[in-house]
Amino acid sequence: MMNLFINASSHKDGHTATLAAKVFGGLPYTTVNLVDHHIHQYGQPTADPDEFAAICAQIAQADRLVFGTPTYCGSMSGYLKTFIDRMTDVVGRDNPFEGKKTALVVSYVNTRDALAPTDHVFRVIEQYYGIKYVGSADNERQAAALSTEIR
Ligand SMILES: Cc1cc2nc3c(=O)[nH]c(=O)nc-3n(C[C@H](O)[C@H](O)[C@H](O)COP(=O)(O)O)c2cc1C
Repeated sequence: MMNLFINASSHKDGHTATLAAKVFGGLPYTTVNLVDHHIHQYGQPTADPDEFAAICAQIAQADRLVFGTPTYCGSMSGYLKTFIDRMTDVVGRDNPFEGKKTALVVSYVNTRDALAPTDHVFRVIEQYYGIKYVGSADNERQAAALSTEIR
């Protein structure tokens, strides 16, 4: 059994990571810090290979996924948006997301405005990629509640 946290924060051990740990609720998990990986923007020339396929290979091995993003300027981080846009490369073929129980955590400091729109994005992903989306959280109480849903 393998559980994966896709951390779309610039901080490896920040607030976003704290919320993800709450969702896993004691389950062992591996973290992919997108800040450590080079991922092209969708549609950019790919002569220079990036690390998107390698991350998808890890996702294919996972049973559960938690995606985490900080709120940047009222929205998800660019790390997450770039990753989600690139998922288009595997929609309908070589889709590693099918059947994965998936949760979303969104951290913020002042404004809660990123949670609802980012949750909506994951509901779209659920339709196209067959993830089993269990919901989203932006505080520790909600994150702890999600830990039951993702088991
Ligand atoms: C570029 C940038 C933009 C931010 N914009 C917002 C914002 O619009 N609303 C907010 O509440 N917090 C904002 N923050 C604060 C972060 O969302 C907050 O500190 C978050 O918990 C950081 O997560 P981390 O510890 O995982 O990096 C911003 C931070 C940065 C670096």
